[in-house]
Amino acid sequence: MTAPLIALATCEELPDLDPDDRLLADALRALDAEVAAPVWDDPAVEWGAFDLVLVRSPWDYHLKRAAFVAWAKEVAGVTALRNPADVIGWNTDKTYLRTLAERGVETVPTIWLPHGEPAPALAELLAERGWAGREAIVKPTIGLGSSGLMRVPAGDPAGDGAAHLRGLLADGDAMVQPFLPSLEREGELSLLFCDGELSHAVRKRPPAGEFRVQPNFGAVAEAARPTAEQVELARRTLAAASDVPPLYGRVDLVAGDDDQPLVMELELVEPTLYLAAAPGAAERFARAVLDAARAAAAAAQA
Ligand SMILES: Nc1ncnc2c1ncn2[C@@H]1O[C@H](COP(=O)(O)OP(=O)(O)O)[C@@H](O)[C@H]1O
Ligand SMILES: [Mg+2]
Repeated sequence: MTAPLIALATCEELPDLDPDDRLLADALRALDAEVAAPVWDDPAVEWGAFDLVLVRSPWDYHLKRAAFVAWAKEVAGVTALRNPADVIGWNTDKTYLRTLAERGVETVPTIWLPHGEPAPALAELLAERGWAGREAIVKPTIGLGSSGLMRVPAGDPAGDGAAHLRGLLADGDAMVQPFLPSLEREGELSLLFCDGELSHAVRKRPPAGEFRVQPNFGAVAEAARPTAEQVELARRTLAAASDVPPLYGRVDLVAGDDDQPLVMELELVEPTLYLAAAPGAAERFARAVLDAARAAAAAAQA
């Protein structure tokens, strides 16, 4: 059997992938797969030449989401794409959280505001939901790495939050949430799933005075042991998202006001997998990816 050829689709700014994906690439190569890192919107790439295209670090898709979703459909037409194109379409817009909430998943409470409608007065909006006197988070529904996100002081005294919301709504949908103080205290717990099974978990802690949990804001990730309640919520989140377990997925949990776990995000498109944090994680994901590539190659030949 020839070695499966696997694409880890990336973006122009990351031609050598990020450190997390380099661990995955190394683990795949150790299993005798051939690995390339094509840029998702490079018109010269022949996607049909790969046995499997794995969406990994297209960290500019929020700037051109329609093109990205169209790309996923196109690739799915010529080879195997993971996660699948319909999942990519659904999961690139945080309105999926609304669907999850409707399906009974405990998510961070959110006010959803559609593009084009006049921006409501932020202070009144918060008061209506019983969040008067609280800090708020205003963010676009299409975004990653904390892009377009603003932490608004209680009462929005200078009107910055309202102005930011107006700006977001001119471009697309927006969402408003109460600021959860637990982020500063303990950050986020990420549960990493491989083929529907829990692989490992990490806690991402921001540095003092910061609430965002991405490494570029100084946050640090370390292996963590989730509680049974957290695992149960993460499993229910995945089950509510799709009938077929995704090849890879990450559920980000935070603590709500009563310390109850809430879903901040379900990441099925381009999650960092924190493979360095858990021994064996890179090999586990690599094996699952390789199996998917082999199955796709066999199906293509049949
Ligand atoms: N309601 C909130 N309260 C406190 N911090 C928040 C809230 N929403 C987002 N954040 C912080 O901002 C980060 C980015 O927001 P998130 O919704 O996860 O979008 P993305 O990771 O796609 O940019 C979160 O990881 C968290 O650190
Ligand atoms: Mg996030």
